[in-house]
Amino acid sequence: MRKILDFITNEVVAAFRASGYDEKYAKVTLSNRPDLCEYQCNGALSAAKEYKKAPIIIANEVAENINGSMIFSEVSAVQPGFLNMKLDTKFLSHYLEKMQMDERLGCEKVENPKTIIIDYGGPNVAKPLHVGHLRSAIIGESVKRIGKFVGHNMIGDVHLGDWGLQMGLIITELKKRKPDLVYFQDEFDGDYPKEAPFTIAELEEIYPTASAYSKEHPEYKAEAMDATFQLQNGKRGYQALLQHILTVSVNDLKKNYENLNVSFELWKGESDAQPYIPDMVKYMKENGYAHISDGALVVDVKEETDTKEIPPCMILKSDGASLYNTTDLATIVERMKLFNPDEIIYVVDKRQELYFEQVFRCAKKTKLVEEDTKLQFLGFGTMNGKDGKPFKTREGGVMRLELLIESINDEMYQKIVQNHAVEEEEARKTAKIVALSAVKYGDLSNQASKDYIFDIDRFTSFEGNTGPYILYTIVRIKSILSKYMQGGRDASKASVLPAASDSEKSLMLELAKFNSIIENSFEEIAPHKICSYIYDIANAFNRFYHETKIISEENHIQQASWIKLLELTQKVLETNIDLLGFSAPDRM
Ligand code: ARG
Repeated sequence: MRKILDFITNEVVAAFRASGYDEKYAKVTLSNRPDLCEYQCNGALSAAKEYKKAPIIIANEVAENINGSMIFSEVSAVQPGFLNMKLDTKFLSHYLEKMQMDERLGCEKVENPKTIIIDYGGPNVAKPLHVGHLRSAIIGESVKRIGKFVGHNMIGDVHLGDWGLQMGLIITELKKRKPDLVYFQDEFDGDYPKEAPFTIAELEEIYPTASAYSKEHPEYKAEAMDATFQLQNGKRGYQALLQHILTVSVNDLKKNYENLNVSFELWKGESDAQPYIPDMVKYMKENGYAHISDGALVVDVKEETDTKEIPPCMILKSDGASLYNTTDLATIVERMKLFNPDEIIYVVDKRQELYFEQVFRCAKKTKLVEEDTKLQFLGFGTMNGKDGKPFKTREGGVMRLELLIESINDEMYQKIVQNHAVEEEEARKTAKIVALSAVKYGDLSNQASKDYIFDIDRFTSFEGNTGPYILYTIVRIKSILSKYMQGGRDASKASVLPAASDSEKSLMLELAKFNSIIENSFEEIAPHKICSYIYDIANAFNRFYHETKIISEENHIQQASWIKLLELTQKVLETNIDLLGFSAPDRM
């Protein structure tokens, strides 16, 4: 379905042409004075220079040539040369009716779908998820869903942090506690047990203990480094332990992500990229991309146009060890080989921006990717507490994600049982759904790159620009619809009538923007645009609802038309919240 803006632009283009002016001036936008008009065109102001005429004269001529168009109820030229337009209510209701009949609400899929890998989540194995991982998961999941809806082949990769000293620390601590395990026998050549020698609870305790201990005890740290080295060089017992650590950890992570309504197509990790490193290093050396600097192997990535210092990208340390860089580059090699993506998007803390700039430049320069492969960094800001400082527990520690979510669920549960007499089980279930909307909307309604204040009281409020407010609106619509159905009526064959009031027209104008908003929020990778869109819809709907007696309306044709409009509003809202990664309950 064509975007409503395209219909309008076409008419304005025709009128500019008919008046003898270049159509490039016929740019139409949403009105920034909704009290005066709905759409506007300021092209006469720029055309005035080329045609050496007063803008108002041009605007008048163009308006003259638009009048008579079926899609406007009013077009006026106003000083100093603006064109103000209002849509014809019949045109608008027809447009909505078509939208309502289409499963995708009039949003066509892209003609040329791209393969896009989206790297988000980034949890570290054996370390609990913390709030920093929350943002990556929430934003990445939403961007992935928007891309899929638009029609692209989106592949989400969790990119586990499963390579490095933390593995050696866990192995060292395990060896200290359970030295008799077969994994530590030098000459063991049988099959290792299928069962892991620890639970997730143990694992989560082992890592911080080992990490703290190693900071005080250099010999322990040296042992952990040696274990890491042996693991990375293929020691069988350690490799088998790594598999256990991964399985136990991934099972737990999956549960956590499931609670957040987040899922990944790929559960790959840093360790998967390791086999690609030797060839990649060889290739970079042989082609003269990499050179030795202070003993380390580096690729220069600075460019003449740089205004700030971009240090070289280090591939191997002087002791031959690889780094975070090396793994990310090798992961690019692997991704190109397995999926040949058109684009890779990284949803990572914005403090890693410079780092990714180095990695991207290095990948382009050394031709690990094709010239037109797009590497995109979507950096997010910090989630702060009410004091404006990075979010911490009351005791000042790093806030574990599980605990945070639990406390919000509880808070929401209290609210729900305060307001309604509901069964405990239903209240718990609803609380979980609404709490998720609070957390996700609270995050996504900010532009990703900005820091924001995690304010539980505000986020969980049923009023204002919040997730629960959006859900409350959907629930309200659902309840009107079910009342209507209980009355035994059926609106399925009804048509959408032209708006009968200003508030109804405003709601219709909002709904009609759907396909533009989706397209735009994908192009700009901006879920916050979807949030502000549904907030506008919810407000427009609630205004309409307060002014309109739907259930008691006696004209049944009018009533059925409103029911259609409500169904469409519900569908638009629910499609959008699904793109944000949450859903609505039936009651709340
Ligand atoms: N594991 C990393 C962390 O916790 C994030 C990984 C981001 N993705 C990447 N391809 N480097 O900071």
